[in-house]
Amino acid sequence: MKTIGVIGAGQMGAGIVQVSAQAGYRVLVSDIGLAQAEKGKAGIAKRLARAVEKEQITSADADAALTRIEPQGDYAAFTDADLIIEAATEREQIKRVIFGEVGKVMRDDAILASNTSSIPITRLAQATPDPARFMGVHFFNPVPVMKPIELIRGLATADATVAAVEAYARSLGKTVVHANDAPGFIVNRVLIPMLNEAIFALGEGVANMRDIDTAVSLGLNHPMGPLTLADFIGLDTCLEIARVLHDGTGDPKFRAAPLLVKYVDAGWLGRKTGKGFYDYSGPEPVPTR
Ligand code: CAA
Repeated sequence: MKTIGVIGAGQMGAGIVQVSAQAGYRVLVSDIGLAQAEKGKAGIAKRLARAVEKEQITSADADAALTRIEPQGDYAAFTDADLIIEAATEREQIKRVIFGEVGKVMRDDAILASNTSSIPITRLAQATPDPARFMGVHFFNPVPVMKPIELIRGLATADATVAAVEAYARSLGKTVVHANDAPGFIVNRVLIPMLNEAIFALGEGVANMRDIDTAVSLGLNHPMGPLTLADFIGLDTCLEIARVLHDGTGDPKFRAAPLLVKYVDAGWLGRKTGKGFYDYSGPEPVPTR
């Protein structure tokens, strides 16, 4: 594998682009337009510059990684890609449209993978040109820091597809785990109910926002409290995953906390919008209630 195509230059897509370029791949990146793809590259340039300042990488390595990243305004060049990773918004309809479009240009020997955090791979495969060459490759945020990658095969995924994507994931220095195509896979099956429960606790007045975060962070030795982590992931993404777990299992234990729905309805989606459970407009995050 030499060329990776990444669709989506947001927090996950840009991370995937960065680690792929640093591992030596040529990386094509697209988003809803060339400007968004360029913006994703500019963010990566900043992160690489910080890594140079901290003497974690040399400036020659940072420059070389940046020259391997090629923002695109459309999918025409994706015909060069050996592996195409979709990291767009966590909405099934959006992903289906993307698979239809990129499916027109991808080569017969190329692989398509989705970074979906919970949508069934077998169902998404129906929107791709060849379900045998489609699977899930789930990275964690922030991608350059987080070690695991969940690999998920759909019912029709070929062994050769899994082997090729596993080799790519390992070449990034990541730890590979295999998950079955079950709602939420492994990590989100466990994580999202925990975050959702913290939001129920907040809504029910069990404790205030800071105390819930402080207690869970220190009590469980997690780097962030659950409300801070939900803001970090994006509340819209948390809600989408909660709904996938609820719909996919039919189990009421996965129902989304009403307060989570309310924050998403308000457009308070977390760090990416400057406000979620906390307001990030000042020097320190301030609880919103
Ligand atoms: N991109 C790249 N690197 C980043 C980063 C980012 N967005 N944010 C932080 N880092 C790096 C820093 O550069 C730093 O690297 P070095 O130690 O090499 O210098 C390192 O991470 C630690 O950062 P900081 O010292 O600034 O801050 P911290 O110690 O508070 O760590 C954190 C920040 C890594 C985000 C940490 O708080 C953490 O691990 N949080 C939990 C993250 C988590 O649970 N992620 C999983 C989310 S679930 C998911 O992704 C799946 C899904 O489908 C929803």
